[in-house]
Amino acid sequence: MAEFRDKLILVKVLLSNMQIIKVKPSINWFLTKYMAKFNLLNVDGQLIIHSHLPSVNSKAFTRFINEHLLARTEGPSHAQISLTNACPQKCEFCYNKGRNGELLNTTEIKQVIQDLKKMGVFWLGFTGGEPLLNKDIVEIVRSVGDDCAIKLFTTGYNLTEELAAELKKAGLLYVSISLDHWEEEEHDRIRGSIGAFRTAQRAIDIFKSIGVHVSVSSVISREMLQGDQVQEFLKFLISIGIHEAWLSEAKPTVEALWNKSAVFTEEERLSLVSLQDKYNKEGKITVNYLGHFEGGEHFGCNAGNKMIYLDAFGEVSPCVFTPMTFGNIRDKQVQTLFSEMKEYFPSESCCFINKNYELVKKYYKGQSPISKEDTMKMMKEVRFGPLSVFSRLYYKRRNMGE
Ligand SMILES: C[S@@+](CC[C@H](N)C(=O)[O-])C[C@H]1O[C@@H](n2cnc3c(N)ncnc32)[C@H](O)[C@@H]1O
Ligand code: SF4
Repeated sequence: MAEFRDKLILVKVLLSNMQIIKVKPSINWFLTKYMAKFNLLNVDGQLIIHSHLPSVNSKAFTRFINEHLLARTEGPSHAQISLTNACPQKCEFCYNKGRNGELLNTTEIKQVIQDLKKMGVFWLGFTGGEPLLNKDIVEIVRSVGDDCAIKLFTTGYNLTEELAAELKKAGLLYVSISLDHWEEEEHDRIRGSIGAFRTAQRAIDIFKSIGVHVSVSSVISREMLQGDQVQEFLKFLISIGIHEAWLSEAKPTVEALWNKSAVFTEEERLSLVSLQDKYNKEGKITVNYLGHFEGGEHFGCNAGNKMIYLDAFGEVSPCVFTPMTFGNIRDKQVQTLFSEMKEYFPSESCCFINKNYELVKKYYKGQSPISKEDTMKMMKEVRFGPLSVFSRLYYKRRNMGE
């Protein structure tokens, strides 16, 4: 429940965003119901629902209303950029495994960030490899501007107190530190790196101490879910006092996971959705499960439609979990690449990669991402299903030609 002070901020937010009344009532109603499932957190003056959305009292949130809900830009709302492919850890499931090429330099990264913002991006994730290995990370974060929410995904490797403080000063809003298990040995085993757990713990402590919104990014395996271990894990996360548990099932992006036994069933997704709702009601921690956000009952899968991923070498993909390329930003403008990709991605009610990994497997030739030529062949075989509840509301007006 928001405190009195936060309610006042909320009233101010509403008054300064009165244009929201022009948004379709059914969309406003949907968003209100969705947001009410989470506890509003005040972290250093930022009112936060969860870290997949900008804080509500930010310029980025106003851009969400103006550019996406009202102006209905065709561009993406969310983007992720890999700042390096280098990494000290060796996770079997890593979506960036086996990529190579010529790294984007800092000038190219800063330019593409501005291009993406012009297209509509108001939420930007920095990933890797280990993004803290990019020596220009502070300069890159600073270049983004205060009208776009910035989230960093990290193992914590290479973090110092000074670097954390500089990142915050440069505009970092959210940090997600990877922790896949509550037992030190098990986390280190999953990450193929002794000391990974302690590195993560230290990074959590550092970011907490300087007032950054801290989430733990956890890859949930089917065994964990079936063994009823997720609750135990969440209890551990509550005990270490972080703001949010950012949960994702292990997505079938890499060869090791291209089999039915590794992929969540719809029943399993729904059981994690219920767990999320239960924990959010209790209010001791925000639980933000990707399968909740991208479920057909909410926003659906927006890979390639409202989401874009750029790997460390400039290859453009629909999202981080889709190992395919629509071209390289060195060969074509990102605006053009995104428009071309979007032609193939109408958005749908379930996760693209969970549904289509068999097709990726078919075209995979030992190199990630699969080539543009093979991506095009693959897309001819993809069949999209119905839209999510949000997308039906969002696109209805346009389809009716209003
Ligand atoms: C690719 S990593 C990059 C940042 C950093 N190296 C780290 O591990 O936190 C970003 C996040 O994606 C998660 N991730 C990687 N591959 C995944 C997959 N196949 N399915 C689900 N999450 C995945 C990682 O666990 C991590 O939390
Ligand atoms: S630490 Fe991150 S980038 Fe490195 S292998 Fe693991 S998931 Fe991939």
